Amino acid sequence: MDYATLGRTGLRVSVAGLGCGGFSRLGLGTGGDETGAIRIVREAAELGVNLFDTAAAYGTEGVLGKAIKTLRRNEIVICTKAPFSWSSGRADPAGLVAALDNSLRQLDTPYIDVYQLHGVPPSNYAHARDELAPVLLKEKEKGKIRFLGITETAPHDLQHETLHQAAQDGVWDVVMVGFSMMHQNARERVFPVTRAHKVGTLLMFAVRNIFSQPGRLQATLRELAAEGQVSAALAESDDPLGFLIHDGGASSVVDACYRYVRHEPGVDVVLFGTGDPEHLRANIASILKPPLPETDRRILAKLFGHLVGVGLDPPTYMPGLTLH
Ligand SMILES: NC(=O)c1ccc[n+]([C@@H]2O[C@H](COP(=O)([O-])OP(=O)(O)OC[C@H]3O[C@@H](n4cnc5c(N)ncnc54)[C@H](OP(=O)(O)O)[C@@H]3O)[C@@H](O)[C@H]2O)c1
Repeated sequence: MDYATLGRTGLRVSVAGLGCGGFSRLGLGTGGDETGAIRIVREAAELGVNLFDTAAAYGTEGVLGKAIKTLRRNEIVICTKAPFSWSSGRADPAGLVAALDNSLRQLDTPYIDVYQLHGVPPSNYAHARDELAPVLLKEKEKGKIRFLGITETAPHDLQHETLHQAAQDGVWDVVMVGFSMMHQNARERVFPVTRAHKVGTLLMFAVRNIFSQPGRLQATLRELAAEGQVSAALAESDDPLGFLIHDGGASSVVDACYRYVRHEPGVDVVLFGTGDPEHLRANIASILKPPLPETDRRILAKLFGHLVGVGLDPPTYMPGLTLH
């Protein structure tokens, strides 16, 4: 494993972080059981992963708490998030403390390393900063939280307005940002400010269904070609990202996705979620490989650098599901 410093927190964290959310939710979301979920966490730890990201909304705090019982608490970094109601509503701040206490109970830990407000839209950012953060900072003084974080709601904040501002406000030590081959604008909107202010970055959305579900990429490229955003030739190709896969290049599209984001200046930790032990091993291996060849990166910038908000829909389409 490679380790990085998570911005001004000074925490040494694995560059691959295990996401306990997404649609897999450590496998609990895809038919797996608690034993399998615990196995995923422990195998990740054996491979050197020391950062785990969960949330009240994922329903995996309890299983993560059980899984880490065999690990030394001071050698791992637990990130969790307040329930969504505090991100977009104007709820009673006292309830936020109760939610934090509940997360501590679920995780069965005396402190949370990074406590995040979950998917804060730009319209609620000032409320989060001015009314909710002060409440959490008091809990931090009591030792329940080590650092404060905030995550964006990528599909509803395509220009990263929340994080662009949050990174400059001095309140949040860590931000979670969406960035991928088809949604590259954090490079201009987020990373320059997080780097300037030494804010740690957790990266999400490297692999959404556009890259993991067969046929989804081609369908999206056809829609983009119809809007004049990509060439018709690319949309008609059976294997539009095939150029990335060659000796010295990527071994698969998913491998390319993780390597693409991992080496972006300003990215500290690449989160990946899975319930599949083979995907776990493959993703860690990808994140630890060298950058994609420069020529391939140049082609990706030319083909997709202008796109915004493409491929942010969830890994599996679920009718009625709220996106965050
Ligand atoms: N606003 C927020 O705060 C927010 C929003 C989204 C995510 N997150 C965090 O970020 C983490 C990462 O989320 P994400 O949105 O990037 O998605 P993700 O949870 O990493 O989902 C990746 C999807 O691709 C599949 N997959 C993983 N590895 C694969 C491989 N090697 N080959 C093929 N398919 C593979 C997974 O299913 P399998 O089980 O089959 O591997 C999963 O369905 C989450 O777990 C969560 O902790 C936070």
